[in-house]
Amino acid sequence: MKNLVANTDIRDRHAELAQRLNSYSKQYYIFDNPSISDAEYDAIYNELLALEKEFPQLQSKESPSQKVGGVDAKRFKKAIHTVPMLSLENAYSETDISDFIERVRKISGIEGVIEFVLEPKLDGLSASILYKEGELVSAATRGDGFIGEDVTQNILTIGNVPKKVMNFSGEVRGEVVMQKADFLELNEQRRLNGEKLFANPRNAAAGSLRQLDPAITASRKLTFFAYSIIADSQMRENSRSTTVSDFSITLSTQLAVLQALQDLGFAVSDKVVVCKDQSEAFEFYKKIEKQRAELEYDIDGIVYKVNDLSIQRKLGSSAKFPRHSIAYKFSAEKAQSMVLDIVAQVGRTGNITPVAELAPVSIGGVVVSRATLHNKDELARRDIRVGDRVVLQRAGDVIPQIMYPILEERSSGSIPFCFPTTCPCCGSVLLEEKDEAAIKCININCEAQLVEKLIHFVSRQAFNIDGLGERGIRFLYEKGVIKSSSDIFRIEKQRGFLESVDGWGKQSVENLVKSINAARMITLDRFIYALGIPRIGTAMSKLIANFFKSYNNFLESAANRRGDELCQVKGVGVSVANDFNRFFANESNLKITRELGGDENGAKGIVTIIDVESTEKKGLFSGQSIVFTGSIEKFSRDAAKEFVERFGGKAASSVSAKTFLVVAGKNAGQKLDQARKLGIRVISEEDFLEIIGDADRGFSDAKNGLAFE
Ligand code: IVH
Repeated sequence: MKNLVANTDIRDRHAELAQRLNSYSKQYYIFDNPSISDAEYDAIYNELLALEKEFPQLQSKESPSQKVGGVDAKRFKKAIHTVPMLSLENAYSETDISDFIERVRKISGIEGVIEFVLEPKLDGLSASILYKEGELVSAATRGDGFIGEDVTQNILTIGNVPKKVMNFSGEVRGEVVMQKADFLELNEQRRLNGEKLFANPRNAAAGSLRQLDPAITASRKLTFFAYSIIADSQMRENSRSTTVSDFSITLSTQLAVLQALQDLGFAVSDKVVVCKDQSEAFEFYKKIEKQRAELEYDIDGIVYKVNDLSIQRKLGSSAKFPRHSIAYKFSAEKAQSMVLDIVAQVGRTGNITPVAELAPVSIGGVVVSRATLHNKDELARRDIRVGDRVVLQRAGDVIPQIMYPILEERSSGSIPFCFPTTCPCCGSVLLEEKDEAAIKCININCEAQLVEKLIHFVSRQAFNIDGLGERGIRFLYEKGVIKSSSDIFRIEKQRGFLESVDGWGKQSVENLVKSINAARMITLDRFIYALGIPRIGTAMSKLIANFFKSYNNFLESAANRRGDELCQVKGVGVSVANDFNRFFANESNLKITRELGGDENGAKGIVTIIDVESTEKKGLFSGQSIVFTGSIEKFSRDAAKEFVERFGGKAASSVSAKTFLVVAGKNAGQKLDQARKLGIRVISEEDFLEIIGDADRGFSDAKNGLAFE
């Protein structure tokens, strides 16, 4: 007979356990930073289950036994590594490396030259992917090296992980990373949604891969770089598995492994060298350390690996590390600086962000002079003050972060920062909403917001106007040349005036006009993103564009404030729908949208929007390679590449017999000659625009080989 009434002590204990479990789970799933061990978690969880078994009324919907931190309480299935996933020993100096090489010599007994392969140490999380006869059968995280988590479904969502690899059987190991640009984009989206930000790309990659719902992983952009193959024979030595082909038997060096991985279709780092002597290796280390900030992904050192796999085997491993490899870490990127001022910055949606202005300081080769303090609550919690000396860190290489103020050095007269109550730009009273961290300026005519909107409009993920960034926009706005985003496309009218402005010659105006004209064509998702609707970042814009399919549908919904229909889309919530409606309730936003994209009565807009339907339907260039040559004026090379890819093709740089089509601009030279010689179709850039702008004609005719005559 079950106990129906739990006394207060029991209820309190249950509540305490529930609260602790929820917090641990959040750390584990959302911030990817487990605060206790699995065993401790299980013990607390079991106590909670025992209480609920005895007092079933405690088992509410909110109980961690039903859901934990918004996800199912169960964790991942365990995956055993038949060959353990070891870790790498760290080196911090050239002496450490010399010692390592000495050790390698001693144990291997080799006196002559030993080759090393040097690879970047990617800063993500390692994963092991198992293939059987060419099929991806399972994938796991490293875990403690012996037992990891089964993340097969999540790995399957990573675009660049080959799902089929000829008839290969064995395990491929590598690093799952989030590229810096994807990380920044994800955090921007999370900021718009009022969600907690990831501290760095590594945490974001780990948090994204270790999701119980693979749909969430799929919505994040992850990249896999492979660095080793565990052959079937090795796996057999460690287990009783009997699989057929043994791929790696023919591979005798680490370099050959990387080559083989590439041939199988895996991405491998392109920053790899083989070194025979130490000074060459140190040069490489220094070169990559310098490039570090500019790389697309984070790295935190250089891995030295003995190239010859037979020597590797001879060296073997200790319990924790292989003896053939070592990671020469880059020095930690920390620095100190002084907070000169704290300013309240107005964002494009009116959110006020406190930003610390710092005495410029170089961290890892990049000069930092500003750091965000996130929001009012965060600033109050961390109590960073003007005049403080602070320790800075470049979080995972990307964003400068203030770690903490050095309290011992704080001057006695220092006072906490007083958050403004009015907008620093327009003076309107700021709105502080109850459950939101953000404090807002809600004046839609606030100039700071208008300028931020314009900067957003031309940014890389939006109209991507080459050569027109923040500085250019501020300048054009101050000069009164542009007031709204549609003015950007009318800039030609201001040619005369611009040419007369100090510092602007004929040529720079010409370049500006050219790059603006080159950006007149845009896909629907980028267009939606460019409008700058609160909460609608790049990922959300894609969902919305896929839902509406065409600009006309989008406009109709916007003009009639039917944002609620967006709630049908998985991943779009009521708050997005509300923001959509609120945005278009503002007549001037609707007016600008119509000016840009055209109106409901068929009046043409000043830009061309490529509907989703047409791009989806058309395999216009399916599997074909297209070469652009000469000076193309109507669109940028990046846009050309993007469109070709959207239509299923590939933009190539050289003309061969396999080239499908050559688009030739003015002054095309050798490539054009080559195309003519090979009898490849050549079209003008205007033809190209017409074809991709006019979806239906382009599709059927191109398929029949008629469109380009
Ligand atoms: S080789 C014995 N190569 O570093 C493990 N590891 O600290 C040998 N890592 O768990 C792995 N880049 O996640 C190797 N080019 C690279 C690497 C790399 C990053 C990671 C890997 C490993 C950790 C060890």
